[in-house]
Amino acid sequence: MSSLQVPRGTFDVLPADAERRGVLEAQAKRILGAAGYGRIETPTFEATELFVRTVGEATDIVQKEMYTFDDGGGRSLTLRPEITAPVCRAYLEHGMHKLPQPVKLWYMSSNFRAEAPQRGRYRQFWQVGAEAIGSAAPEVDAELIVLLAQLLEALGAREMRLRLSSLGTAATRAEYREELAAYLRAHEDGLSPEVVARIDLNPMRAFDAGDRRTQETMRAAPLLLDRLADDDADHFARVRELLDDAGLRYVLDPRLVRGLDYYARTVFEFNSDALGAQSGVGGGGRYDGLIEQLGGAPTPGCGWAAGVERMLMAAGEVPVAPDVVDVFVAVAGGDAARTAFELANEARRAGMSAQMELAGRSLKGQLRHADRLGARYVAIIHDPMQANLKNMESGEQIDLQPAAVIPAILRGSRL
Ligand code: HAM
Repeated sequence: MSSLQVPRGTFDVLPADAERRGVLEAQAKRILGAAGYGRIETPTFEATELFVRTVGEATDIVQKEMYTFDDGGGRSLTLRPEITAPVCRAYLEHGMHKLPQPVKLWYMSSNFRAEAPQRGRYRQFWQVGAEAIGSAAPEVDAELIVLLAQLLEALGAREMRLRLSSLGTAATRAEYREELAAYLRAHEDGLSPEVVARIDLNPMRAFDAGDRRTQETMRAAPLLLDRLADDDADHFARVRELLDDAGLRYVLDPRLVRGLDYYARTVFEFNSDALGAQSGVGGGGRYDGLIEQLGGAPTPGCGWAAGVERMLMAAGEVPVAPDVVDVFVAVAGGDAARTAFELANEARRAGMSAQMELAGRSLKGQLRHADRLGARYVAIIHDPMQANLKNMESGEQIDLQPAAVIPAILRGSRL
C-alpha cells in the first residue's frame, strides 16, 4: 500500500457505495421534485464573510471548523461548511425574489468541517438539502418536515425520531438569553467550566452540554418555548397541527439546540437510534432573518439538510438494481480485437450494455469472466468474418458473422 492515504476524516466513494448514493439521489429528486423543488449547485468555496455573518461568529463551525484560505489576492475564502447561506446568497444574486414565491430549491453536495473524525462524522461529507425562500406560511415548515420524513422512509431509515421546537424571533431570543445567562450565573457551581466560560458568548449551548452535573442544573432552567411572543406561538401551534394531520410523530424538545445562529421560529431534527453518538441524520428550521443579514429585503425562509452518509448508515441495506451486461465480446483470434472493439461500440449505440475483453485472458478465462459479470450473451470473435454467439442462460450457441451479432441479440434469445 502506498504511504499516501486519504486525508483524515475523508473517504473514497467506491462503485458499490456510489450505487447506494445514486439510489438516494434518485429518491431525493423524485420526492423533492414532485413538491416543486428545483436543483441548485453553488460553488465549493465562498467568501468567508458569508458564513461568519450567517452561521454566526460564536458557533463551533465558525470558531474552529472552517477551512479558510487566502486566494492569493488577499481575499479570504472558505470551503462551504453548509449550504443554506450559499443558497440565500444565490437567491439574492440572481434576483429570485422576482420569481413567484416561495422559491423552492434542493441540493446534494459536499461540505467541509474540521471536526474530530469519528463514525458518522467526517471532514468532507455530503448533504441533501431543501430550502423554501420567500414564504412565512407555517405550511412551508410542515411541508419541508414531511418531505424529509418521506425521504427517510423511502430509504428505509431505521429507528428515526423527530424532535421539534421553536426559537421565536431574534428579539424574543435576546430577552431570553439575558434571562438564561442570569440563571446560569446564579448556578455556576452546578456547571462545567466550559459552559461557564461560554455564558456570555452562547448561553443556549448549556442545554447541549454532555456532562451530568450541567444537565442536572439545566433541568430547572427557564425555557425559550415558554417565552414565545403570541404570533410565534401561533405559528408553532399551526405547524404542529399540520404535522399531526399528516400523521407524523414528533417529540416537543424545548432543549433542541442547533449549531447555527440563523434560525428563528421552527427548528427540528431527525435522529436515528440505529447510529452511534452521531445520531443526527438531518435537521433544519426557519431562518427568517438570514436574507436580510446578507443585505436583501426582509425575506422569510425555511429548510433542512440531511447527511448522506448518515442517512445511508440509518438505512442499512439499500436495495440496488444489479448491473446488467447484455453482451460480453470475447476475443478469440489474433486480429479479432479490432472487430470486437467495433462490435462493443455498436452494441452500446444500440442501447445495450456491452463489455469486451481487455485483459488478454484465454478464451476459457474470458467465458468464466463473462459468467462472473452475469452477461446474457457472449459474442466470440475469431476474425472479421467469423463469430459465435452464445446464450449464457440456455447454453445455445450459433455461428454467424460479427455483423450479424447485434441483430441476432435484438431478435431475442431464439438461438
Ligand atoms: P446541520 O445540522 O449542521 O445543519 O447539518 C445537517 C446534517 O448534516 C446533520 O444532521 C448531519 O446528518 C450532517 N452532518 C453535519 N456535520 C457532519 C459531519 N461532520 N459529518 C457527517 N455528517 C454531518 C445544516 O447544515 C443546515 N444548513 C441545515 C439547514 C438547511 N437549515 C436550514 N436549511
